[in-house]
Amino acid sequence: MWYKLIRPLLFALDPEFSHNLTLGVLEKLHQCGAFSSVPLMPSSLSVNCFGLTFPNPIGLAAGLDKNGECVPAWQSFGFGFVEIGTVTPRPQAGNSKPRLFRLPANEAVINRMGFNNKGVDYLVQRVASYKRTCPLGINIGKNKDTPLEAAAQDYLACFQKVYALADYVTVNLSSPNTPGLKSLQHGEMLRSIIIPLKNEQERLSGTLGKKVPILVKISPDLEAEELKLIVNDLLDLQIEGIIATNTTIKRDATLMPRYAKEEGGLSGKPLFRASTEVVRKIHQLAGSDLPIIAVGGVSSVLEAKEKFAAGAKLVQLYSGLIYQGPGLVTEITQALAK
Ligand SMILES: Cc1cc2nc3c(=O)[nH]c(=O)nc-3n(C[C@H](O)[C@H](O)[C@H](O)COP(=O)(O)O)c2cc1C
Repeated sequence: MWYKLIRPLLFALDPEFSHNLTLGVLEKLHQCGAFSSVPLMPSSLSVNCFGLTFPNPIGLAAGLDKNGECVPAWQSFGFGFVEIGTVTPRPQAGNSKPRLFRLPANEAVINRMGFNNKGVDYLVQRVASYKRTCPLGINIGKNKDTPLEAAAQDYLACFQKVYALADYVTVNLSSPNTPGLKSLQHGEMLRSIIIPLKNEQERLSGTLGKKVPILVKISPDLEAEELKLIVNDLLDLQIEGIIATNTTIKRDATLMPRYAKEEGGLSGKPLFRASTEVVRKIHQLAGSDLPIIAVGGVSSVLEAKEKFAAGAKLVQLYSGLIYQGPGLVTEITQALAK
């Protein structure tokens, strides 16, 4: 309700400015003790997945809180899990501005942020200070200036630093805004990233006494044959789960002409169909062997339910929050509880 009142103000500001302002206000409110309680969830909403228990199946998608600065706020909005990042080994500024665009007529967003973040050491220090009430995923990536051939070292460096604090780790191989990143989703490149992480997972689970699941986040723009190969590889590599999907580089004719030609990843309503089809195909190919977190274009109860019907175990939100506000989380969880 209150979001309907402040949305026109936020939308009157530059999108990135309003994003940073919102995170800044949430952080200040946390310092004043505003987010000390979390809504109680009926036990019927609880989901077991990747060996973790989620109080409800609706999570925050990566990219909204790249540095893990507002985790208590997300928890108190009623999310059943929170994914922070993408974080890279070293801080980086990201692409030049403007790099974030709202398309209100389409309830969509185009972004080419380029993994702007304060680096993994900062994120780890932030996360260590929070009282946690639901699973926390940490999404990792490579620095832009790390050559693709050395990408495995970046993923491994982040993995080692976040392992002790994360409930799951997402390997982001699908952002369209880091040159060449999506090529890491395939064949030998994929194996060169994942095998060292799986070896490290085994070593660290021995020393720390907890096995942190590894998930891979994929693009919605894969051909059917490519998707099949990736799913087979992920099963073969014993990856614990998959996140489908990231943003798309495809554009359709209905997009607001003013922004349709902006480069970057498109998210929100126009992504819903294609992204849900990817979920359906993965589920047909892998069944319960590869649990799916579905993300892409969810802005209502019906869309969330469609993701579950397509085979998702859990669902994440991002662009829907920009247009509907955080009340969307309660709206969906309350409907699922009925
Ligand atoms: C501004 C913006 C930044 C994003 N940054 C990241 C990111 O750093 N890492 C990532 O894995 N996904 C990132 N995403 C993708 C979202 O996590 C999500 O996969 C995508 O937006 C589709 O969901 P939606 O339609 O609900 O927004 C970003 C999305 C947006 C809109």
